[in-house]
Amino acid sequence: MGIKINNKESKFPIIQGGMGVGVSLHNLAGNVSLEGGIGVLSAASIGYKKELFKTNPKKANLKAIDEEIKKARKICGEDKILAINIMVAMKDYENLVKRSVENKIDLIISGAGLPKNLPELVEGSKTKIAPIVSSLRACQFITKYWITKYNYVPDMIIVEGPKAGGHLGFKKEEIKEKNLEDIIKEVLEYIRIIEKENGKDIPLIAAGGIWSSKDIKKHLDLGCNGVQIGTRFVTTKECDASNEFKMAYINAKAKDIKIISSPVGMPGRALSNKFIKSLEKENKKINKCYSCIKTCDIKTTPYCITKALINAVNGNIDEGLIFCGEVVTKIKEITTVKKLMKELTKEL
Ligand SMILES: Cc1cc2nc3c(=O)[nH]c(=O)nc-3n(C[C@H](O)[C@H](O)[C@H](O)COP(=O)(O)O)c2cc1C
Repeated sequence: MGIKINNKESKFPIIQGGMGVGVSLHNLAGNVSLEGGIGVLSAASIGYKKELFKTNPKKANLKAIDEEIKKARKICGEDKILAINIMVAMKDYENLVKRSVENKIDLIISGAGLPKNLPELVEGSKTKIAPIVSSLRACQFITKYWITKYNYVPDMIIVEGPKAGGHLGFKKEEIKEKNLEDIIKEVLEYIRIIEKENGKDIPLIAAGGIWSSKDIKKHLDLGCNGVQIGTRFVTTKECDASNEFKMAYINAKAKDIKIISSPVGMPGRALSNKFIKSLEKENKKINKCYSCIKTCDIKTTPYCITKALINAVNGNIDEGLIFCGEVVTKIKEITTVKKLMKELTKEL
């Protein structure tokens, strides 16, 4: 009932979603892998705690990849599956991927754009690759592209629906209309054909709005091989975000959830706070560029997303961007990864 990557298998069919900036680093990811799931580091400005980040963010991020993977491995051991989430929208995408491969990461998950050249970046390694898609169209495009150009069948496909946290692969007006289950059914039908044509299993993972063990069971019964969960892992002791960030989740009410526009060029789900309200009146002055997002233009962007996410993860909530999933309103307490995994798997 786990998820297989090369000769390893997780105990449970649960992937913890990569969460940037700094929300899923070695402590969360390492402990999720240790407790039977697949822990996922986030590569988004992963080196933000380093002094070097101020002067050379690219170099700081690459160094932090070495360190975070090593520290996570120390927690979970070599025999567990460890993954990293690297957003296609990152300016230094290729180098972040290559560095993760050098560190023998088991799996790279890439969303916020379609990872067209990912197969060539992992060539010759054992690292497996999974795109995140939000529609059948995106799934068909990336699958056909990889097979035609690289003769590479995806090792896994993650389908992320409109209730997820962070950036959303939908137009603003689609967020209320679309439904994860419908997208999964369409994608599953397509994937089954690709599997048959190519003689390779492609695990399908459902993400966005998954709360309970029952929800997980429902998706497995639909034909998925597992789920990816983000929001619920934030309020664990092991999560790498500040206590203030976790408390913002615990105190969140339905009216606090906002769909915002991100400099990445996609909508995102976040908690309304002073920062978001102030953006309605004026853009934030940017003194420094961290060279993070391909599409961001320092002259026109309404705010620096890296700075806002660093503020949030560090506990400067009033000036921070707090990404969250739709299920955030159900969270009532801080728990541990062990307890959460037990709760999530009790019906399986
Ligand atoms: C705080 C936060 C940060 C996130 N950051 C990223 C990210 O950097 N890259 C990414 O692909 N997904 C990101 N996500 C999405 C998660 O990896 C996950 O797929 C999603 O949250 C699943 O939905 P759920 O939160 O309802 O469980 C983030 C989600 C949250 C809540």
